[in-house]
Amino acid sequence: MLKFIILSDLHIVPEGKLSHGLDTLDRLTQAVGYVNETHGDADFVICAGDLADHGEAAAYKRLKTEIERLNTPTYLTLGNHDDRPTFLDIFGSDLASETGNLDHVIDAEGYRVIVLDSSEPELMGSGRLSKAQLDWLAGQLDRAMDRPVVIVLHHNITKFHVQTDFIILEEPEALIDVVSRHPDVRQVISGHVHMTTAGTVRGIPFCTLGGGHYSIEPMLESRSGPVPGGPVPRREGPGQLAVVLCDEASVVVHMENFLDRHLVLAPDLFGWS
Ligand SMILES: [Fe+2]
Repeated sequence: MLKFIILSDLHIVPEGKLSHGLDTLDRLTQAVGYVNETHGDADFVICAGDLADHGEAAAYKRLKTEIERLNTPTYLTLGNHDDRPTFLDIFGSDLASETGNLDHVIDAEGYRVIVLDSSEPELMGSGRLSKAQLDWLAGQLDRAMDRPVVIVLHHNITKFHVQTDFIILEEPEALIDVVSRHPDVRQVISGHVHMTTAGTVRGIPFCTLGGGHYSIEPMLESRSGPVPGGPVPRREGPGQLAVVLCDEASVVVHMENFLDRHLVLAPDLFGWS
C-alpha cells in the first residue's frame, strides 16, 4: 500500500512576525511532530503550496530548517502566496522541473503521483497552469496508462459555491480535459481554500484539506441567491493535514487535525467501548 501525507497552506513568516495573529511556524512544528510520531511509516510528504505567507526569503529559510526534521522524503510545490524565484534561491534551482515550475512525478507502490505547481502571483489569488505544464502532464499521464494516478496541486479545480470561488484555478476545463485522457485518476487533492471539501467534477474525484493556517467558514450560496456578503468568518483552527492511503482498489483520504481544540469525550460516555 502507498501512504503519503499532504501538508498545505503553511504560510510561514519571518522570525518575530505573525500571520493574522497566528504563529505559523509553531503550527508547522506541531504538524511535523505529529507526522513523525503518528505517520512515520509514510512513503513521503507533499507540501502543497502557500509555503510562505508573502514569499519572503527569511520565511523559506525557516521552512527549510523545519521540514528537514521530517523523517520521510519531502516534495514541495507552490501556491499563490509564494514567490518562485525567491523559493528557488533558498531551496536550489534544481528542484524545478523541465517546465520551470515545481512540478513532480513520483512513482511508488504501483501508483503515479503527480504534483503540479499552480502558483501565478500576478493573478492575486487564483492560479494557473501553463501550456507547457499541461503538455508535460499529458505526457506523464500517457506514460502511466497501466497504473492509477493521484494529482496534487494548490488550487481547487472547480467552484464550491462559496465566497472563495473567485480565486480558483484559472481555466480548470483545460486541466480537466487533460486529466480525462487517463482512465484511472483516483483523486485530485488541493489546499488553498482553507476548508475541507470533497466532490467530483466531470467524473473526477477531488477534495481539499483545511491546511495548517486559519480555517475559513464556508458561506454557501442558496438556491435563491448568491453567496451572502459581509465579513468572512475565519477560525484559528483546526490545523489539518491529509493522509492518503492507496491500495490496489481504492484511494482513501483521511483529513486529520494535528491541532484541534475540541475536547475528547470521556470513554465512559460510550457504553459500547
Ligand atoms: Fe493559503
